[in-house]
Amino acid sequence: MSEYRIAVIGGDGVGPEVVAAGMGVLDTAASGFSLAWEHLPWGSDYYQANGVMMPADGLAVLDRFDAIYLGAVGRPDVPDHVTLWGLLLPIRQRFDLYLNVRPVRLLPGVLSPLRDRGPADIDMIVVRENSEGEYAGVGGRAHAGHPAEVGIQVDVFTRAGVERVARYSFGLARSRRGRLASITKSNASPHHFVMWDEIVEEVHRDFPDVQLDRILVDAAAAYMISSPDRFDVVVASNLFGDILTDIGAVIQGGMGMAASANITPDRSKPGMFEPVHGSAPDIAGTGRANPVGAVWAGAMMLDHLGETAAGRAVMAAVEEMLATTGIRTPDLGGTATTSEVGQELQRALRAAGVSRPAGRLPRRPPA
Ligand code: NAD
Ligand code: IPM
Ligand code: MN
Repeated sequence: MSEYRIAVIGGDGVGPEVVAAGMGVLDTAASGFSLAWEHLPWGSDYYQANGVMMPADGLAVLDRFDAIYLGAVGRPDVPDHVTLWGLLLPIRQRFDLYLNVRPVRLLPGVLSPLRDRGPADIDMIVVRENSEGEYAGVGGRAHAGHPAEVGIQVDVFTRAGVERVARYSFGLARSRRGRLASITKSNASPHHFVMWDEIVEEVHRDFPDVQLDRILVDAAAAYMISSPDRFDVVVASNLFGDILTDIGAVIQGGMGMAASANITPDRSKPGMFEPVHGSAPDIAGTGRANPVGAVWAGAMMLDHLGETAAGRAVMAAVEEMLATTGIRTPDLGGTATTSEVGQELQRALRAAGVSRPAGRLPRRPPA
């Protein structure tokens, strides 16, 4: 029987709450394999005690796992750039998890704030470039506090970086409804985004069956609201993908509904699976956090590990709960707590029984 070693970084705020619910659900879905969870106490508490978000060998520790299941990091008493550049962003960047795959799907039984929109209208996947662009981390400040102070943050786009995210996105579009929207701001940024457009056009030649739409990010933000049905696969830079997927989360029912997978398709490094939302300090500790995004991210983790049947079973349980019961957290109009939703999903999984898994997709040893 396969055993997968999963590093759990609950993190801050609602992070540990949603991840705990998710772990219970994933354990219940595990049939023919098991999940060996190891909790890593990294995050803002760790920072207050040690002055760093994770130990110096943190990435080497994570590299020994099959996957990383993360809640959220960020707390009002630690500057956000310290938290995020101390933990989340180095994992994405140093492990070269260059794909941040974020489904935006309105599940039956969930009300979108978009009037008259149902599940048939909202079903897209945003592929967010996850290793460079606006998040390259290049820049600096000079003359601090002086009237001549400058702050510089440089966007870094590479041909290789754009090409690989484009190629994955075209392939994904081919496996779905055959439509790819490439999002830039190449009217105002005539250097990197024009290069992005050119490279996307080049890759398109290998996917002539996929319809390519080039959409400027401001218009794309509007279309997400006015006509979400025009989107199938969306490929965007790191920052634009970040912003568009918060819009995506809201149109699929709220921040608590959205999931994300940080992966490299060659599986040379552990993928990191997390809800799209943050630590939600405003509701932390109240039991009001919706765990569906975290559970969904867990289903994506099972899928990435090759346990596709278990991943599908988890999503079927989520869909059944939302479509046939009133059990949901307050953000969706219910009264259930985070853990009650987790319990209900476990019950649904046990009632359904889980079919045999598809089998292990091993990580490749580093080159
Ligand atoms: P947020 O996503 O934490 O919260 C935005 C709003 O969504 C809040 O009203 C919150 O209550 C609500 N919300 C979030 N998750 C929810 C859930 N599961 N169920 C119900 N409602 C939910 O965004 P923010 O307030 O901008 O950020 C808070 C902190 O989290 C900051 O420190 C930020 O840097 C950090 N953050 C971390 C991650 C991450 O670790 N991946 C992602 C985003 C933000
Ligand atoms: C997300 C988050 C992160 C991001 C922050 C916390 C750095 O907003 O995963 O969407 O911008 O990538
Ligand atoms: Mn975000």
